[in-house]
Amino acid sequence: MEIMGRGLKQILQESPCYFHIFSKFLAYRLFGKKSPLYGSADIINVCNLHCTHCYWWLNRKENEEMTLEEWKEVIDNKFKRQHVFIITLVGGEPTLRPDVVELFIKEFPKRVCLVTNGTKPLKKYNDIYFYWISIDGTQEIHDKIRGHGAYSATRKNVMDYVQKNGSKAYKDIWITMTINSLNYHTVSDVIKEWRQYSNKIGFQFHTPFAKGDPLWMPFGPERTQVIDSIISMKNKYPDYIINPTKQLELMKKNWGGHGTTPIDCPTWAILSVDHMGREKRPCCIGSAEKDSMKPICEDCGLGCYSVLVGYGFRG
Ligand SMILES: C[S@@+](CC[C@H](N)C(=O)[O-])C[C@H]1O[C@@H](n2cnc3c(N)ncnc32)[C@H](O)[C@@H]1O
Ligand code: SF4
Ligand code: SF4
Repeated sequence: MEIMGRGLKQILQESPCYFHIFSKFLAYRLFGKKSPLYGSADIINVCNLHCTHCYWWLNRKENEEMTLEEWKEVIDNKFKRQHVFIITLVGGEPTLRPDVVELFIKEFPKRVCLVTNGTKPLKKYNDIYFYWISIDGTQEIHDKIRGHGAYSATRKNVMDYVQKNGSKAYKDIWITMTINSLNYHTVSDVIKEWRQYSNKIGFQFHTPFAKGDPLWMPFGPERTQVIDSIISMKNKYPDYIINPTKQLELMKKNWGGHGTTPIDCPTWAILSVDHMGREKRPCCIGSAEKDSMKPICEDCGLGCYSVLVGYGFRG
């Protein structure tokens, strides 16, 4: 038996964590108390790609990186103190800071998801929860977004990982696709292409930081059709596509907020820090700096918050 890639033995071993999560859930439901369930950390201020859709470059400033000791303080003082369950490592490109990745995995065994462009060889960590590999379409479209040669590098690294690390290695590979106006028609090809090398796939939609962003897929018949086709593919691949139908239905329209202000979006549920360990607002794609560019909540397509709205969490 497996639930979201976690076996029964593991679930039993993690019972203290579930106690905290369950207490938080009850406190929210009974008293409206809001305490973060998950964490996200931009562990690096560097990236080897410059993707056309990427929010991270929009607010990037030249700052120092944090040392390993400083990250340990953030882990203890923020993530552990608040008993977050799963931590997602992002950036920039987090695989370029293997020392910090190792530290997080040591501190949160089987509870770290590493989001990566996959262009660097994927290290085998026994205690990782899984790699999120970002795939933005079939080769031509992916490379249009991520740069020439990105797709073949990622493909090779995923193949090598799956082939060299035993029959269960594919379980560590989860695909994340951010759907936009360039790649929406490649969704079923992406599933066909990656299903044999990966455990799960999750979809989200491009979130703009400016009105008129041509990559954003407007609400309306075309977007609804893409979502309906994912919902019907879920019937064919129920264990592969992880988005709940409720979440996908939400993504057909505004579920998050008004203008750049989150309203229903449960921003409190994910404690997000930038590469200096500062808390980002309003959410994991925001920024700790006050004068930063802001994501447009009313056009948001982020998976990690909309899934919580689907489960009844609100801002
Ligand atoms: C910022 S990247 C950092 C991790 C790594 N460099 C990667 O590309 O996977 C994290 C994820 O955010 C997604 N992303 C970037 N810009 C986005 C946007 N404007 N809206 C929604 N998702 C976005 C990327 O496709 C990627 O899956
Ligand atoms: S690889 Fe990731 S962080 Fe780097 S530009 Fe692309 S989406 Fe952004
Ligand atoms: S995830 Fe961020 S951009 Fe989306 S609705 Fe929530 S606060 Fe706004």
